[in-house]
Amino acid sequence: MLVTNILSSHHANSQTRELVNAFNEELAKQGHESFTYDLYADTFQPVMRDDDFNQFMGKPLPGEVIAIHEQLRRSDVLTMFYPVWWNGMPAIMKGWIDRVFAKGFAYDYGADGTRGLLTFKKVCIVATLGNKKADVDPRLEESMRFINETGIFSYSGVAETEQHFLYSAFSDEDTKATTLELMRDMARRC
Ligand SMILES: Cc1cc2nc3c(=O)[nH]c(=O)nc-3n(C[C@H](O)[C@H](O)[C@H](O)COP(=O)(O)O)c2cc1C
Repeated sequence: MLVTNILSSHHANSQTRELVNAFNEELAKQGHESFTYDLYADTFQPVMRDDDFNQFMGKPLPGEVIAIHEQLRRSDVLTMFYPVWWNGMPAIMKGWIDRVFAKGFAYDYGADGTRGLLTFKKVCIVATLGNKKADVDPRLEESMRFINETGIFSYSGVAETEQHFLYSAFSDEDTKATTLELMRDMARRC
């Protein structure tokens, strides 16, 4: 089984990065292969421009996007690890979706409507938040879940989207240990 992770983490001392590392370690123990796109470290360019719009004209996409498509076609599970910024995903992650989930790759449409084209067994989303859960209006998490599951992945043909919104996940040692175990459990269920 191949799991491809998309990671948005702008610094080395990042809880989001520590979570993907724990997830990958457990995947390896389970005999699974994983590959991580580290968007900041890879200096991914998230702004849609120029040849990115070729998707709407039936022309070839930029080579870097085609290479990501080839990696994703080989993958059984896709994950996204990111810190919540202003109640959504960071711009670099949103830009990755904009550019990579192109017409003809993630979805297509014609006279009979739209159809999703992605074939992942499942998608897992791990989003970290600085706030405590009690301090956040629950409708914000509901809206993030809804956009991810219905607006992006179900639209693109994915039947199962597992989401974890982790509030103050490293606030104390017990919470941190529980959170890391959750990542290992997610890996065992891939
Ligand atoms: C620009 C920005 C916006 C943020 N917005 C939110 C937010 O909407 N809700 C929240 O709980 N935390 C918010 N935070 C806190 C981050 O979610 C938190 O710092 C992050 O989860 C820590 O993960 P990291 O160690 O991997 O960077 C924000 C942080 C930044 C820098």
